[in-house]
Amino acid sequence: MVIRIAAVGDVHMDEDVVGRFRPALDELPRHAEALLLAGDLTRHGTESEARCVAREFGGLGVPVVTVLGNHEYQCDQVPQVVKVLEDAGITVLEGDGVVLECTGGRLGIAGVKGFGGGFAGRCASDFGEPEMKAFVRTTTESADALGAALRGLDCDVLVALTHYSPVPDTLAGEPLEIYPFLGSYQLGQAIDSAPTALALHGHAHHGSERGTTPGGVRVRNVAHPVIKQAYSVFELGDHVD
Ligand SMILES: [Fe+2]
Repeated sequence: MVIRIAAVGDVHMDEDVVGRFRPALDELPRHAEALLLAGDLTRHGTESEARCVAREFGGLGVPVVTVLGNHEYQCDQVPQVVKVLEDAGITVLEGDGVVLECTGGRLGIAGVKGFGGGFAGRCASDFGEPEMKAFVRTTTESADALGAALRGLDCDVLVALTHYSPVPDTLAGEPLEIYPFLGSYQLGQAIDSAPTALALHGHAHHGSERGTTPGGVRVRNVAHPVIKQAYSVFELGDHVD
């Protein structure tokens, strides 16, 4: 059996964007059984922008599951943003997961925003100033939460959802100098610690679509500027692309 899911990230909603995605979203239930959003739903993380997200992505007829992005933190209104999204029926993950009953089986989704830190051989280390240790600790705690959430789900197909990237592959196109601010290898290790079928992320607007974790899990950057469509559809189960 096959489960089809749709995904997009970095839609950066505000009043001027409302309606742009809706025609394609109205068609979504014909193509997929769930929509996953990879964070950066808003521009500055305000409650009014969150209401735009709710109008655009609420009431689709399929479950909508999201993680937050760094933009959702800009105005210190995270609790208000989460409440608006949840009131619209959108499931917000941060260090936890959800299992959806799909026609092809039970789809497990574990999510965290994630954080930066960099990749093997070119990463921040837990050494020196307290500020640097706090930076690395943020990444480590986020990755640990993702790994625990992934391993804790009882499902047939497992998907990891983050905003920051777990691999450098999908950052190709971004300046090398900012890779440490776009993702962390620790997220990739977390994904590889469970039988993950697919890892989805956003954040890297100038990155690339396809990558693979060291453990062989396919990674897809679904940032809207990368996929250049309202959402991409992925097949999970017996047949994968
Ligand atoms: Fe971002």
